[in-house]
Amino acid sequence: MRGWSDSCSTGRIPDLRLGGHNVSPLSSVSAHGYAAVGSGHAGPCTKQEIRLSTQSDIERWIRSNLSPRQTTTAELAYERMESQSGECLVVLYQPLDHTRRAHWHDVAIVSAFARAMGGAESVLDIGPGDGWPSLRMADRFSRITGIDPSPRRVRIQRENAARLGIENVEFLVMDAEAMSLKDASFDGVCAASSIEQCDDPAAALAEAHRVLRPGGTLAMVFEDYSEYFPESDGDEEIWMERARGADGSDERILFYQLRTKSPPREARYGLFLDGVRLAADPELSRVLEAVVEKPVSLDLRSDSASKRPHELSLPFFETLAPYVISAACYELNHLTGRTLDELLESVGFGEIRHLDHRIPSVLEAFNTAESEERLDECASTFVEFCEDVGARAMDDATPGQGDFVIARKSPN
Ligand SMILES: C[S@@+](CC[C@H](N)C(=O)[O-])C[C@H]1O[C@@H](n2cnc3c(N)ncnc32)[C@H](O)[C@@H]1O
Repeated sequence: MRGWSDSCSTGRIPDLRLGGHNVSPLSSVSAHGYAAVGSGHAGPCTKQEIRLSTQSDIERWIRSNLSPRQTTTAELAYERMESQSGECLVVLYQPLDHTRRAHWHDVAIVSAFARAMGGAESVLDIGPGDGWPSLRMADRFSRITGIDPSPRRVRIQRENAARLGIENVEFLVMDAEAMSLKDASFDGVCAASSIEQCDDPAAALAEAHRVLRPGGTLAMVFEDYSEYFPESDGDEEIWMERARGADGSDERILFYQLRTKSPPREARYGLFLDGVRLAADPELSRVLEAVVEKPVSLDLRSDSASKRPHELSLPFFETLAPYVISAACYELNHLTGRTLDELLESVGFGEIRHLDHRIPSVLEAFNTAESEERLDECASTFVEFCEDVGARAMDDATPGQGDFVIARKSPN
């Protein structure tokens, strides 16, 4: 998957992507062919309202002309990737390295997750991707169960567990929206960047509440688009994958994705193209081969309409129409701190607290040590230090803002 959920996803800090964020003011009508329901909109939007208000011209055209089959992120995104994390995960793929900012952060955030569910014996991890954070927390809990609807993800999770010699973590092919797990069977539930990837986050949270024992804790990180798009209103992108069709035929899949900050929404379309017929159009084939090599993207800003590349235009999609065998799509309403709190309360959670998943104090400590050229002095102490900072950040969580959220199921 592209974007935040790509390599080093939400739970983690890519080494080179830090820094202050300035959130730009939002315009209520964008220059990109869709109206944003941002400032001035009272109350949360329904899914239907968001669909109608934010579809781009390209989306509307795909929907009218290609009748895409509605599917899930698990099918259209996660099932298609060999590695969800881009093999960047600390310990799972890379040895722990005190000279890497992302590794300091990983130790801290894993410690924060563990602290949130402190005292738990059995933990459920919703949507572990390549096995994170389950496999990183294996030595902290007696039993961890990871569930993911993508069979390929579960295969990779199991392979990673076997490679690391971890035996107390099991991974099951299962949808968080309909868990075949007993009521009150876990002391803690965690979810890293996965609840918002479900078609119905409310259903997944209701299930998390059901399988938690009374008094148990949910700890989750979500992708907050207001942080993710600090200086733009979102982005649009196309990229292309080569694939083998179910009948062995040569397929090309062109993906179109639109993500908007306000309302926080993601829509992805996969257009399955007939590779054989495409070969008869050398000019179009050449353009598409270039997209295989290099995805084409556009930041949505007030001045970007005039810079729109041809590959992100309606005429380009119209030229593709004769080669499309089938199309599929998913659509997500991403969470905000406020809508998440509302959902959590509506399914019965209480004591909701937030913190910043970036755990700024650990990043500041890394930056200071780096700028003072003292990183090597930290080699033997940084794990203990980062664990302590992560645990303290969790203890300091407060009601309000932040993309790392913990909530409790009532003890009664
Ligand atoms: C962005 S990845 C996060 C992976 C991992 N937790 C991490 O932080 O690296 C989202 C994960 O959620 C899973 N997922 C999507 N829909 C789901 C659902 N309905 N139930 C459970 N997991 C789901 C995906 O297959 C994927 O593994």
